[in-house]
Amino acid sequence: MSQGQFISHCTADALKSAAQQLKSGTLVAFPTETVYGLGADATNADAVARIYAVKGRPADHPLIVHLADAQDISEWASEIPDYAIDLARSFWPGPMTLVLTRSELAPDFITGGQATVGLRVPDHTLALAFLNAFKAIGGKGVAAPSANRFGHVSTTTAKAVHEELGEYLAPEDLILDGGPSQVGVESTIIDCTGDAPRILRPGAISVEMIEAVTGVKVVNRDDVIRVSGSLESHYSPDAHVVLDGHPRPGDGLIALNDYPTPEGAIRLASPINNEDFARHLYEALREADAQGIEQVVVIQPEGDGIATAIRDRLKRAAAKG
Ligand code: TXA
Ligand code: MG
Repeated sequence: MSQGQFISHCTADALKSAAQQLKSGTLVAFPTETVYGLGADATNADAVARIYAVKGRPADHPLIVHLADAQDISEWASEIPDYAIDLARSFWPGPMTLVLTRSELAPDFITGGQATVGLRVPDHTLALAFLNAFKAIGGKGVAAPSANRFGHVSTTTAKAVHEELGEYLAPEDLILDGGPSQVGVESTIIDCTGDAPRILRPGAISVEMIEAVTGVKVVNRDDVIRVSGSLESHYSPDAHVVLDGHPRPGDGLIALNDYPTPEGAIRLASPINNEDFARHLYEALREADAQGIEQVVVIQPEGDGIATAIRDRLKRAAAKG
């Protein structure tokens, strides 16, 4: 049976009571500009444990703590290099997560036992209002992974959250509806524990953007500290994803709108540019599953910036196992 109360009209009062419920230990799924998050009070071990249970996610994977204001990172992080301050000033609120050396506030059940913590200020009116309401009643931060089952496609609408997680949520858990996510792929994760920023997961904030505001050359990801999205198979629908192939009759197709639909293929999305591609990708993959389509061909977008993030997710969506 599907659980979780759906709040489609998020008034200030509704957000206040959602924040109070979060404080008392329930889970609150909420929109962000990247994807929807499944939130819990980041200082409540039992509530955070429920996130792992609902997602079916291994317990040693660290969670991102969402904050109302960039100033709040000094509570959670003990060392903040100058380039991280530049990044926070330039891109928060926004689709960027900074991995910093943790303070005593950041417990092992958030960091997966690591000495670092991931922090983000999302750029979404409703998310910020919710985070501020939580802060106003003494909340320190909201731990939130993407609101999807482990290894599956992230959610970019409240309806998708309900379909994806409804049967695992408790009756008192909430799903806040803030409309479709405008970016559509998860935040850029930047490790800020070394001399230079290092990208752990590409997103809308690109290498070029990071270098432009910090004046520091970005180091490439060499060894991977636990980023679950960097496992081989991730972001996967039930359908088999094929990259840059030719769709057979009955196959799904996701491609930029100037790419013609071959006879018999089922067009799932026709984005007009790379930003639009990112915005619609996950809903298109979900639609493939909703229609029972077995194979989806995706013609990958070219270029850097958000296209790099799209290709990164597609590579994992297409990986087997
Ligand atoms: O856009 C986003 O980042 C979304 C929205 C909801 O904010 N969240 C998201 O969370 O994508 P999640 O848990 O699905 O992916 C976050 C990734 C995980 O792969 C996790 O391992 C990594 O961030 N991560 C979190 N804290 C980390 C840390 N301290 N060091 C390295 N990786 C970390
Ligand atoms: Mg995720």
